[in-house]
Amino acid sequence: MTIQEMFDLTGKVAVIIGGARDFGFNMADVLAEAGCDLVLTSRTLASAEQTAVKLKAKHKRDTLPLALDVTRHPQIAEVADRAAAWKGHIDILINNAGGTPSGKGKARLFERAPEDAAEVININLLGSLYCCQEIGRIMAKQGHGKIINVASVAGIVGRDRRMYDRSSMQGQPIDYAAAKAGVIGMTRDLAGYLSPMGIYVNCISPGGFDRGKLPAGFVKDYSDRTPLGRMGRDDTDLRGATLFLASSASNYVTGHNLVVDGGFSIWQ
Ligand SMILES: NC(=O)c1ccc[n+]([C@@H]2O[C@H](COP(=O)([O-])OP(=O)(O)OC[C@H]3O[C@@H](n4cnc5c(N)ncnc54)[C@H](O)[C@@H]3O)[C@@H](O)[C@H]2O)c1
Repeated sequence: MTIQEMFDLTGKVAVIIGGARDFGFNMADVLAEAGCDLVLTSRTLASAEQTAVKLKAKHKRDTLPLALDVTRHPQIAEVADRAAAWKGHIDILINNAGGTPSGKGKARLFERAPEDAAEVININLLGSLYCCQEIGRIMAKQGHGKIINVASVAGIVGRDRRMYDRSSMQGQPIDYAAAKAGVIGMTRDLAGYLSPMGIYVNCISPGGFDRGKLPAGFVKDYSDRTPLGRMGRDDTDLRGATLFLASSASNYVTGHNLVVDGGFSIWQ
């Protein structure tokens, strides 16, 4: 197999959960460039449609936009069925939905409300688990598939909250670290379960990414603690990892957590 063939995804169908913006958009973009047709989900159909139109125009690949809130369990099975019926197969699943609902609740431990913590676990951990379950069911029938979960360095190392305090930021809630550590553990165990059925399960743990909205002091602090001297960039830094884990280039890799953090975690 040539290198070109190894990374070629022509005719594959990729489902990107939370695919309308930021990481989700960029992962969808690289997969479409490599030849995939895309099922893009977002909580609102309108934003999934907007991204679908944009990526279809750019890459001339088919796109199917669907609405999905991963905390609404019945919707996941419906999306899995519609995605499978679209081209008759699902080859790649990216579980990107996550984060901490912005502007909601207090992040600090002693002020954290149980419902806010539960929501973070529901979106990041259980949402990904249920998507693996429903789309994994379809992949198991096909006998092949590649699942990529999106975890975080937050699931690997603790956070120095003095960095956030210095920039008057709330910081990351503990439940987010718990959810992302859960995604990494879940990925390993799912790989043990699904790999004998021909389904690869891996995850990517990004470090902090800068989208021009963070306080300059925080970006400097974070960059100083990163061996490569900067935060991540959306349009470049996850592309290689995504394509590697989605393609035959990773055909002897399963249960792996690919850390894409500029070295941030090794200095913690
Ligand atoms: N930005 C970072 O620095 C960073 C670092 C490490 C990991 N991550 C993780 O990467 C993933 C993408 O984050 P991002 O930075 O692109 O942030 P983002 O907020 O732009 O993306 C989060 C995505 O999840 C979707 N989402 C949120 N709640 C959902 C729900 N209930 N149902 C369905 N979709 C839902 C959003 O619509 C969005 O598409 C997340 O899992 C996040 O935890 C981000």
